[in-house]
Amino acid sequence: MAKTEQNDGYWNATAASPNFPTLAGDIEVDIAIVGAGIVGVTTARMLKNKGQTVALIEAGRPGRQATGKSTAKVTSQHGLTYQVLEQKFGRHCAGLYAEAQESGLRTILGLIARHGIDCDVEARPAWVYTCEEAHVAALEKEADITRLLGLPSSLSHTTDLPFDVLAALRFDQQAQLHPVKYLSGLAQTIPGEGCHVFQNSRVTGWEPTRVETAQGSVKARHVVMATHLPLGTVGGYYTRAFPHAEPVIAARLSQVPDGMYVSVEQPRHSLRTHRNAAGEVYAIASGGRFKPGDTEQERHCMQDLEHWLGTHFATGPVEHRWINEDYASVDSAPYVGWSSSIGGSYLVATGFAAWGISNGTAAAMILADLATGQDHRWLELFDAKRVKPVAGGREFLKESAEIASHLVGGYLSRKPGSCEELASGEAAIMKIDGHNTAVYRDTGGALHAVSAVCPHLGCLVGWNETDRTWDCPCHGSRFDLNGEVIHGPATQPLAGRHVDKPA
Ligand SMILES: Cc1cc2nc3c(=O)[nH]c(=O)nc-3n(C[C@H](O)[C@H](O)[C@H](O)COP(=O)(O)OP(=O)(O)OC[C@H]3O[C@@H](n4cnc5c(N)ncnc54)[C@H](O)[C@@H]3O)c2cc1C
Ligand code: FES
Repeated sequence: MAKTEQNDGYWNATAASPNFPTLAGDIEVDIAIVGAGIVGVTTARMLKNKGQTVALIEAGRPGRQATGKSTAKVTSQHGLTYQVLEQKFGRHCAGLYAEAQESGLRTILGLIARHGIDCDVEARPAWVYTCEEAHVAALEKEADITRLLGLPSSLSHTTDLPFDVLAALRFDQQAQLHPVKYLSGLAQTIPGEGCHVFQNSRVTGWEPTRVETAQGSVKARHVVMATHLPLGTVGGYYTRAFPHAEPVIAARLSQVPDGMYVSVEQPRHSLRTHRNAAGEVYAIASGGRFKPGDTEQERHCMQDLEHWLGTHFATGPVEHRWINEDYASVDSAPYVGWSSSIGGSYLVATGFAAWGISNGTAAAMILADLATGQDHRWLELFDAKRVKPVAGGREFLKESAEIASHLVGGYLSRKPGSCEELASGEAAIMKIDGHNTAVYRDTGGALHAVSAVCPHLGCLVGWNETDRTWDCPCHGSRFDLNGEVIHGPATQPLAGRHVDKPA
């Protein structure tokens, strides 16, 4: 019942499940990697290439969280990122970012070819476009910078989109793939020669050289926290990487554009296609940002996205709707590397700002070098220990103020005010016996009640209407209807609550 009511999106619904064991007992390897998203699986593969033994420990199944809920464009074109990086860090560092993204992209294509991974990869140009005069100059500036950085970019005034644009920037030799098939396939190359992949194994205890799950532990020279945001309070990243959520939809498409697209203007609409095994082509579109758990904003963004897709493209009905999250750093560059310059440090990677496929692969290249005692030149930009109070100041203050408000009030809904008033499929946060309680009535009529207080750091969760999960606005933890953790940084469930009496 409740568990099956949770929604996981198009990619998770269209990929077979790999069969990795659960961690049971105590083992020792060179490097322990927590989390099998794009960062974790790729880091494991890179370390195995270097002759290291690894244990990749995944709470659920490989590739099915942020990576498996993304639009999975594999591109070095990230909106208008290069001018932002040039302004904040200078041209040299913008160039390092370009080099890292192109290397990430080529590494993915190389891994697919070398290991024969069946993941529907297709070469596609990437486009960022504008239909508004106000953004044309910025787009032209991005064209100048990216050309100077040696990226495969060219400015145009036409695309094969079914509407006119004022300007568009095209990157050639980019790609799109099926993210769950890619990471499942890559994960399957890891076991053997002292290397392991464990699934359904949530890490609940950690030290810099040891992690533990309910049924086992892994001792290692170093621990890589590839958990999207480092777990708990590791490195303090929860104070300098901020979550946003975005709706994603999939619908059959009859008129198929050639490229992958993203608008400059907000809400930022993103589009790519996917051809399934039956030869049917789907549009995968995302757009509109909101704080996790803000039900009203989620509804608004979803309606806007569906309206945009339906207005411009000949599609069938929307068949899949889901929500994905990502974290942005305070200064627009991801955090990658050692979490601290003193002893007792973890290897971490976060803050990809919705561009984690190429960034996550580049991060894995850095982490694999650091874990084996080598330095990496991209750290001049990405170093996870950097402090940039000036570059990140305003964003930091704004996000911190929002987090403080969620610690106090969250998205407490006033209506309905009692469990009895909850209709089937409806959810609310309400005070029951003085406790903030998250209550959902499932489609069979049963009530599911859990504490609304996030066990990470105490913010109040909000209702994700699309996926039917409880999501935390502060640092992005997600919980199912029974309070079990779906996504960290929390590692403990929402406490159970009894609501057998009407509130
Ligand atoms: C709407 C949207 C669209 C996007 N589209 C794109 C795109 O087209 N191209 C692009 O480049 N980027 C895109 N992104 C960004 C991209 O999805 C992310 O940046 C990237 O997937 C992050 O990868 P990750 O490995 O850090 O996290 P994840 O893929 O979430 O992997 C982390 C893993 O750690 C596991 N884990 C967590 N806690 C524990 C624990 N305690 N024990 C064990 N395992 C644990 C999780 O289960 C998960 O599998 C998009 C983001 C959004 C929000
Ligand atoms: S994720 Fe940090 S308080 Fe909820």
